[in-house]
Amino acid sequence: MKDQISPYFCHILVCVNDRQSERISCGPANSGAIKQVLKLQVKKRWPDARIRVSQTGCLGVCEEGPNVMIYPQKIWFSHVTPGDVEGILDRIDQIVRAGQDLLLTK
Ligand code: FES
Repeated sequence: MKDQISPYFCHILVCVNDRQSERISCGPANSGAIKQVLKLQVKKRWPDARIRVSQTGCLGVCEEGPNVMIYPQKIWFSHVTPGDVEGILDRIDQIVRAGQDLLLTK
């Protein structure tokens, strides 16, 4: 195993876990669509930035879903709808502006 620092300045995790109606989960609440729009918009707005959008399994706060978390900034968006994506992108833009030097450092 190799221990390294993450290559991403900002990693956006979108829970797409689907429990098939056994219990509440993010997937059935449209989180896949949220992830897709985030992915497209991040690539469009910051094509050269080290920002990654990834789908994940359960983030442990299912009742608050759909959930989107941003690391290492430790920002958590809960009860997200596709209509909230613009607000999330605005928050990412604040993060990018605040860390412009780090963003461009490889
Ligand atoms: S299913 Fe999304 S946080 Fe648990």
